[in-house]
Amino acid sequence: MAERKKPLIIVTRKLPDAIETRMMELFNARLNLDDHAMSREELRQAVETADVLVPTVTDTIDEALLNQAGPQLKLIANFGNGVDHIDLRAARARGITVTNTPGVLTEDTADMTMALILATARRLSEGERLVRSGQWTGWAPTVMLGARLAGKRLGIIGMGRIGQAVARRARAFGLSIHYHNRKQVHPEVETELDATYWESLDQMLTRMDIIAVTCPRTPATYHLLNARRLGLLKSSAILVNISRGQVVEEATLARMLLMKEIGGAGLDVYEDEPNVDPKLLKLDNVVLLPHMGSATIEGRLDMGEKVIVNIKTFVDGHTPRDRVLEMMF
Ligand code: 8YV
Repeated sequence: MAERKKPLIIVTRKLPDAIETRMMELFNARLNLDDHAMSREELRQAVETADVLVPTVTDTIDEALLNQAGPQLKLIANFGNGVDHIDLRAARARGITVTNTPGVLTEDTADMTMALILATARRLSEGERLVRSGQWTGWAPTVMLGARLAGKRLGIIGMGRIGQAVARRARAFGLSIHYHNRKQVHPEVETELDATYWESLDQMLTRMDIIAVTCPRTPATYHLLNARRLGLLKSSAILVNISRGQVVEEATLARMLLMKEIGGAGLDVYEDEPNVDPKLLKLDNVVLLPHMGSATIEGRLDMGEKVIVNIKTFVDGHTPRDRVLEMMF
């Protein structure tokens, strides 16, 4: 029996060794061993030749690029959950299926959200910088005072898997849970989390001590926290963003932190990564992380496994479970 030709899979970034090895076994995989971010020209060549493209958040797969894709490109198996860097409509118009890796990075991202909430409220990075600077003069009763979490109100923007996982953790820290979402979540979930739903984001913002942004970036959430909405926050409020930088107007947030119009911020994502508003770099009341919300070894392996299963399912002629549809976002 003639063996079926293995599909050409082009992977845009270095993935964990175990994942790459399995991809080599299963497919005709082309890897990016030195992990450079692919140039536009390299991406163009990739979509021109690959049967399957495996991009990450660092690749912009827009309409112009997809217009240059060869007819053999049938699947974009994204390594990651968010698909805001892929033009889903243009992909659909060309008959290209898109998949992502939901579920497997929920717990890690929720952990990091809690870590950012704690780090911001309790001034962790600032304290660490103080010790490392050699300027620490010893314990003092009124130095490095932060804000207590227990008894405060947390407003979660986006009550999907990650938002709910954050809520579960936050409850254990004594925070009361509030949320804004496109839809109210199932009553059972609301009861379990003792969560209060706010249809009006504006109303919720004015009342919260901490805001966590956990929604996907979509046309509807672009600059959801614009200058007007940021202005609704209490002057003591803490804002944490582990979603996408574009959901928050970064320049306004930086100005507000500088003017102390807001209590603090914890950011894992930025509007123009890897560039960060230079104002933020100088401020002590903001914790800055390099988009590492889901960066655990276990998470990366699980994401890779999902990508492999999605590709295998697709090339075997079935609909991959993690197929992304425009209406989901
Ligand atoms: C991933 C993320 O590491 O999955 C996402 O949406 O933001 C990150 O946690 C990244 O997207 C990988 O492509």
